[in-house]
Amino acid sequence: MAEDLTITKGDKKTQYESLLPQIQGLLSGETNLVANLGNIAAALKEQFNWLWVGFYWIIEDELVLGPFQGPVACTRIKKGRGVCGTSWEKEATIIVDDVEKFPGHIACSSSSKSEIVLPVFKEGKIQGVLDVDSSELAQFDEVDQLYLEKILAMIP
Ligand code: SME
Repeated sequence: MAEDLTITKGDKKTQYESLLPQIQGLLSGETNLVANLGNIAAALKEQFNWLWVGFYWIIEDELVLGPFQGPVACTRIKKGRGVCGTSWEKEATIIVDDVEKFPGHIACSSSSKSEIVLPVFKEGKIQGVLDVDSSELAQFDEVDQLYLEKILAMIP
């Protein structure tokens, strides 16, 4: 498919519904992980214009910064540290309405106010996390969780 994203206006669900098949198109036929994670981060950033969208990947006993869009970020996160490390430890999606109220939050950017972190699984085994940060409070809910999980399940 052409490497052009069609940006949709409307409510969150409408935006995801338009984005999902486009991401599927971008991933189809490509098996390289870095290429695919890069395009997912770019597509989400372009559609939603969040502050930061990116992946941390499990390498040995740490999460290491992977493909992302947004300001420079911390490169390594230990299991159980911050929102990302907690999502890894619990193997669960975490939605934080106000990062200042999350104990141990790692402030890569002082502009970050709310976030969602989702584990990425392959054949039932956690591989890393998707971290999405917003400069506004309480930007993420179960609609984001539902659609972002669908997108992560598309990674070949
Ligand atoms: N907010 C994350 C750290 C990573 S950055 O925000 C890009 C956390 O507390 O896990």
